Amino acid sequence: SYIHRFKGLNSMEEEVAKKLNIHKVLIVPGSYDEDELVLREIGRVASVYLKSILKNDIVIGITGGQTMAMVAEEMSEDDLKHSNIAVIPARGGLGKNVEKQSNTIAAKIAKKLNASYNLLHMPDNISKELLKSLSEDPNIKEVVDYIQKIGILVFGIGRADKMSVRRGLSEEKINTLKQHGAVAEAFGYYFNKDGEIIQEVNTVGVSLDHYKGLQHIIGAAAGTEKAEAIIAISKLNENLTLVIDEGLAKKILI
Ligand code: G3H
Repeated sequence: SYIHRFKGLNSMEEEVAKKLNIHKVLIVPGSYDEDELVLREIGRVASVYLKSILKNDIVIGITGGQTMAMVAEEMSEDDLKHSNIAVIPARGGLGKNVEKQSNTIAAKIAKKLNASYNLLHMPDNISKELLKSLSEDPNIKEVVDYIQKIGILVFGIGRADKMSVRRGLSEEKINTLKQHGAVAEAFGYYFNKDGEIIQEVNTVGVSLDHYKGLQHIIGAAAGTEKAEAIIAISKLNENLTLVIDEGLAKKILI
């Protein structure tokens, strides 16, 4: 196996996968709450797993955030066994921190995989009218066509409260999310604890229906505070492979 494991992690992985009713769980030893370096290991393990499921002629969709930034950073650059791989951002969204933007991460992963990439110059949280006219732009259209072809999605999972603040939503919108019981955010959607959609960010990208039909999905997350979010996201598609830290795994099992 790819990481040096403490005895017992394997059975914990099975337990978590069973509890969440998902395909696979990979647990990194230690707790992110106590040691930030654990995030690096999550990035590494997720990148190794991604490589293990790669095949020819596939489009990889990725999202932003600090966990995904670690996936890109920790990915090793070795001989590529596959051809015609493209990496693209799964959703629009230009945050303030360029390192954590999906465009930056997509480019970095593509370079390491010796793959091609397409960038999506599209902010999130824009008005419906602006979204409509931007979507007609030929460059954006080209990427949107690619997005429909995503076969593997690698994404970060966040808490609804934290992500809504990070995205700069108005206080009113943040409160509405709270009132409707939003606990999780992933690829531009907010969900309640049952995995029901509460709100969608106004941008282009992978749709929830597309997500639900995907066979290869890798979600990465660290920190016990994300337990509820993980449980919610796991309800969307049972093909999910989760890469999490031991501390978070224990919290999910409570
Ligand atoms: O959508 C959720 C976020 O991607 C999670 O971001 O990895 O920075 O916590 P993070």
